Amino acid sequence: MKVLGLVASDRVLGNSEVLAKEAARPLLEAGVQVRLLRITDLEIRSCIGCMRCVFRGARCPVEDDAEHLFDLMLEADGLILSAPTYVLEPAAIIKAVVDRFLMLALRFPELNARPRYGVSISCAGIEGWNPLGVPLLNKFLLAFRYRVVGSLEAYAPGPGQILLDEAVVSRAADLGRALAGVLAGEATEGTATRGTRCPVCHGTSFELLGDGRVRCPLCRVLGRIVDQARGVVEFEQDSVRNHRWADEPLREHVENWILKTEGMFRERAREIRARAAAYRELDHLWLAPPERQDSA
Ligand SMILES: Cc1cc2nc3c(=O)[nH]c(=O)nc-3n(C[C@H](O)[C@H](O)[C@H](O)COP(=O)(O)O)c2cc1C
Repeated sequence: MKVLGLVASDRVLGNSEVLAKEAARPLLEAGVQVRLLRITDLEIRSCIGCMRCVFRGARCPVEDDAEHLFDLMLEADGLILSAPTYVLEPAAIIKAVVDRFLMLALRFPELNARPRYGVSISCAGIEGWNPLGVPLLNKFLLAFRYRVVGSLEAYAPGPGQILLDEAVVSRAADLGRALAGVLAGEATEGTATRGTRCPVCHGTSFELLGDGRVRCPLCRVLGRIVDQARGVVEFEQDSVRNHRWADEPLREHVENWILKTEGMFRERAREIRARAAAYRELDHLWLAPPERQDSA
């Protein structure tokens, strides 16, 4: 069994790093091969939206380290994803990587064929300032076809300062133990039917649908508020099984929407081009990016 630990912070021995390493310990004790990668060391550029990866099954034309990272992720049976929160959500490198997930879209059936599991660690400075850390890290896991085994929120501003909070450090080890357990084939805990968090991404933000019904915007899980005072939601099990990132709904989205958008566009491409032509008139508004010495 192989586990990859992705650390999304530049801070050496920062909170994301030490907690990822703490989660790694029980896995190492269980004989799992663990490797760590500081993803801020990689060059991950923006997706250019060309769609060649899905429409043609072609290699991504963006020359960077995304393919190298995905090769490592594809080999891994388990993932530890540990990231700092910057301005209320995981640091930008997390989004940059997840934006490239269509590079793997045609390989989802292959990826889904064997169970793969992940845990997330969201490191922030202060409680109340990290509303999106955990759910967006879990969205990363789900998008790359890992089942979420557990998540941890940790609060400490200085690098490594989280080590003063022994309870959180031991919860990181618990996460690693849980990951080792599922990788060894031990039964996973069932999905919660009631709670204050989405049972799939563990987020706490819900859309209000009226009549006390709510929906997780990331996973499309539906529920009904059953305890107003404590904000407890009873989740509809069918929507939990068929959440946005589950194998079948995601396959359906790729095949019946993403792949079909090419034909839908082509059918009216001439008309779209004709309408867009008028916007060339405003091209004189563009500012040039600054000249860089290394591009000379
Ligand atoms: C640019 C920047 C933005 C930050 N924004 C937040 C924030 O919105 N909420 C929060 O709780 N902490 C915020 N923090 C604090 C970090 O999340 C916190 O220090 C975290 O533990 C860093 O993890 P690391 O040591 O692994 O880098 C921010 C830190 C930086 C440098």
